[in-house]
Amino acid sequence: MNIITFDSDDKLNEAAANIIIGQIQTTPRAVIGLATGGTPVGIYKQIVNDYQRGMISFRDVTTFNLDEYVNLPINHPESYRSYMNSNLFDHIDLPASQCHIPDGNAADPAEECRKYDEAIELSGQVDLQLLGLGHNGHIGFNEPAHALIKGTHVVDLAQETLEANARFFDSIDDVPKQAITMGVGTILKAKKILLVVKGADKADIIKRALHGTITTDCPASLLQTHPNLIVLLDSAAAGKLA
Ligand code: PGA
Repeated sequence: MNIITFDSDDKLNEAAANIIIGQIQTTPRAVIGLATGGTPVGIYKQIVNDYQRGMISFRDVTTFNLDEYVNLPINHPESYRSYMNSNLFDHIDLPASQCHIPDGNAADPAEECRKYDEAIELSGQVDLQLLGLGHNGHIGFNEPAHALIKGTHVVDLAQETLEANARFFDSIDDVPKQAITMGVGTILKAKKILLVVKGADKADIIKRALHGTITTDCPASLLQTHPNLIVLLDSAAAGKLA
């Protein structure tokens, strides 16, 4: 595990963007796992800047997003499809047919999950998976539980997650109660994982995730078992690490 702490948000975003761009430059037809939420916004901005400066092309890249809300119209401003379009996809040359986000409106969600895992397998697995961290230790939308599900599946969102994501909606009642998420098994199969965590409000949970007991009560703690984990933190998030 390689943990790097940054004293500014710009430097952290630049470092994360450089890791993603470096992966694309060194891996023909790279498969990149993408995340949503507040954490990656500045990283995507940096990647778009680098693209506009001619540093990188996404023509041969394939992407798989971690998750999507269930039953939120795809063009709703808070769907993860809308988020990815406005923060990244609309600004780069990644062909639409090569970016994958689970369809939260699929008529048969179980079949959608099965097909999503199959598409990841067929792509040859994710070379680099970008991850954020929930306050309750979730990765993707794998919430703390007695047992975790390996593959992509439909999940009931935890109360903490509904509360955390209420900031993006008019009220907590508008936050979808379910999502489709890659499972922890899907996530851990990525060849390399880039975990990015920002803010003092995540200092306790990142300490628990990286140095606590490996437990399904803190899904991110399973990342300790991954052979190629890079963790980028701002100094606030790193505040409780020894
Ligand atoms: P955030 O979410 O980036 O909006 O804090 C992270 C997560 O829930 O995985």
